Amino acid sequence: MSLHIINHPLILHKLSIMRNKKTSTMEFRKMLKEISMLMGYEITRDFPLEYKTIETPLQTMEAPRLAGKKVVIAPILRAGLGMVEGLLNLIPSARVGHIGLYRDEVTCEPVFYYYKMPANKDRLVILTDPMLATGGSACDAIMRLKKDGFKNIKLMCLVASPQGVKRVEETYPDVEIYLASLDEGLNDKNYILPGLGDAGDRIFGTK
Ligand code: PRP
Ligand code: URA
Repeated sequence: MSLHIINHPLILHKLSIMRNKKTSTMEFRKMLKEISMLMGYEITRDFPLEYKTIETPLQTMEAPRLAGKKVVIAPILRAGLGMVEGLLNLIPSARVGHIGLYRDEVTCEPVFYYYKMPANKDRLVILTDPMLATGGSACDAIMRLKKDGFKNIKLMCLVASPQGVKRVEETYPDVEIYLASLDEGLNDKNYILPGLGDAGDRIFGTK
């Protein structure tokens, strides 16, 4: 299945704080970091284990350990940056790439301006962006990652519209999508409803 909605009560509680227009920049950022960590717990659920013999104080056992899954966290700038720290808390050895895209205010089409990813294309990419609205930005980022040779990609968003999910699912059926909430839809400016407003502006306090 490519769509995972991680509607854990802790996540939904923190997301409601983020949605509230009265929430401060500081609190918004803190909630995003905490939710990212909680979502990271589910995103890493299929990480493979290997078994190694160890001795507990009482006896020997075959103990499970992570089998060295190599990960790169790739935020879509700017808002995706807000999800990096929470994931790094869980996967401290992950590399961090950057994909620079912003949505043109009039056309709502993604405008590309930066791309930097690690050389090893075998790594699992966790592509982060809190907002999946029309899906244009996510599809553009996935297209660039695939062109660059990355094959194993997971998309981690906070809030999505049904239209955005459909677009990513139809264009890239191999990409697993992780969300905290599938919202109602888009307004006439392609903002997610009920959503949480402009994620980049709310994270960085630029409005
Ligand atoms: C927002 C958001 C996504 C994009 C979603 O970025 O963080 O990247 O819009 O919209 P879409 O699914 O319709 O493409 P924005 O363009 O506001 O850039 P910013 O994060 O730099 O502010
Ligand atoms: N980008 C945002 O930051 N919020 C939306 O609702 C849509 C696009």
